[in-house]
Amino acid sequence: MKVIAFVWLVAPGAAGFAADLTGNWMAAQPAGDGYIRRSYFNLKQEGARITGTIRTRQFHYTVSDSTGGSDGFTLTAAMKDGNAERRAVYEGRLVGEELHIAERRNSVLQPEMVAQRARAGEGAMPPRIPPPTLHKVRDNGLARTPPMGWNSWNKFAGTVSDQIVRGIADSMASNGMRDAGYIYINIDDTWEGERDAHGNIRSNNKFPDMKMLADYVHGKGLKIGIYSSPGPNTCAGYEGSYAHEEQDARTFASWGIDYLKYDWCSARNLYKDGEMQAVYQKMGDALLAAGRPIVYSLCQYGRADVWRWGPDAGGNSWRTTGDIRDTWESMERIGFTQDDLGPYAGPGHWNDPDMLEIGNGGMSDAEYRTHMSLWSMLAAPLIAGNDVRSMPQTIADILVNREVIAIDQDSAGKPARRAWRSGHQEAWVRPLANGEWAVALFNRATDPIGVVVKWADLGFAGVPAMVRDLWAQRDVALQGAAIQAMIPAHGVVVWRVR
Ligand code: GLA
Repeated sequence: MKVIAFVWLVAPGAAGFAADLTGNWMAAQPAGDGYIRRSYFNLKQEGARITGTIRTRQFHYTVSDSTGGSDGFTLTAAMKDGNAERRAVYEGRLVGEELHIAERRNSVLQPEMVAQRARAGEGAMPPRIPPPTLHKVRDNGLARTPPMGWNSWNKFAGTVSDQIVRGIADSMASNGMRDAGYIYINIDDTWEGERDAHGNIRSNNKFPDMKMLADYVHGKGLKIGIYSSPGPNTCAGYEGSYAHEEQDARTFASWGIDYLKYDWCSARNLYKDGEMQAVYQKMGDALLAAGRPIVYSLCQYGRADVWRWGPDAGGNSWRTTGDIRDTWESMERIGFTQDDLGPYAGPGHWNDPDMLEIGNGGMSDAEYRTHMSLWSMLAAPLIAGNDVRSMPQTIADILVNREVIAIDQDSAGKPARRAWRSGHQEAWVRPLANGEWAVALFNRATDPIGVVVKWADLGFAGVPAMVRDLWAQRDVALQGAAIQAMIPAHGVVVWRVR
């Protein structure tokens, strides 16, 4: 013992016991809301080689390569994620009895974590529970038209709180949004706290009492939604529903929750993409068994052809893409690539190209009008993602254009298809329940342009008897066999046609 201590004293960082990286290291990072994120570095140092696993937020990596030693090392780690491989690079060193370690992401060193020695086995991935055998989950009868509401993530991310949600509810009840159909107020990731001794999920300090909050939101004539993951952790590294599906569904029901967004996140470490249906089915069944009508929103980034099995898993909607960002490029890339998915949507089960960014500041008003129009043509859920407590009138006018909303909410539930394209201009056409049609003419170019399209090119047999411009909110004089319009840069004209 004495000898070992002596070696450490004279030669810290040398191959002595105390300077060995071998061990299970835990970095506790308080999120500021009472929840503590824990990252685990389970390492083994043998000569010049470091092996092991890294578990952080939603990821569980295996170290595949290393350089250096306890004085300074770099680890390359990898994991399988569906058909792709995800890699991460960590740099660190031993400082006394602490492991100081940071991820290098896109060549930027992230904030350093300080890890302490933890018990062997602490923080290990829980054992895999085999997914259930497939069956068809009974239709819950909800979402006969695409869900409409608000979600906290795009604007507030980890700062969402009880107070913000109440303020949003107050605003939506009085600014015309609720009355236009925006009913669901959905709390996204970072509401979660630790489980209690019985495994019941609790909310963290940002949400002192979920049931009281739900009562408040219901009192405003609105409904309330929440978020979880089929994995042990959510994407932000909070508590997920893994191994607690039925229990959490019952808890959500007892709080008065009306909508659940269920986000794949760390389930990627336990299940293959081919098992997604079974994993989502589990919560679909659990929600039905909990006995409260709860809209079930699948979020797995459009993997594994979810549109083919989403309804069988009990889903009322499924994300068709990765996360949207508040840029024209992101919105355009997502919105204009949804054409083939149209046939999979219908009453009760919808394609979800992700939430709205309207009003978050990264796009022009013309671009936001395109966003609103395209999502409505696609029969997408209209989930606002901005701070509706303080939005300018121009943004409110985009979100609460009732004639555009009526296209989205049309009871036939048939999404638009691309009918015509010429250069950067394209037209999408959507059949409506009363025999009318919605036509949207988009200009994806960076300059305004005058466009002339023949009705015949859009698939119409004759010349319509009526055309109404839904953004100008006026009827349009017909001009024979073609219709013409000036369309702003990145803009749109939407007509209802009879
Ligand atoms: C994923 C989802 C987002 C959001 C975050 C929260 O990235 O796709 O919509 O819910 O997780 O962590």
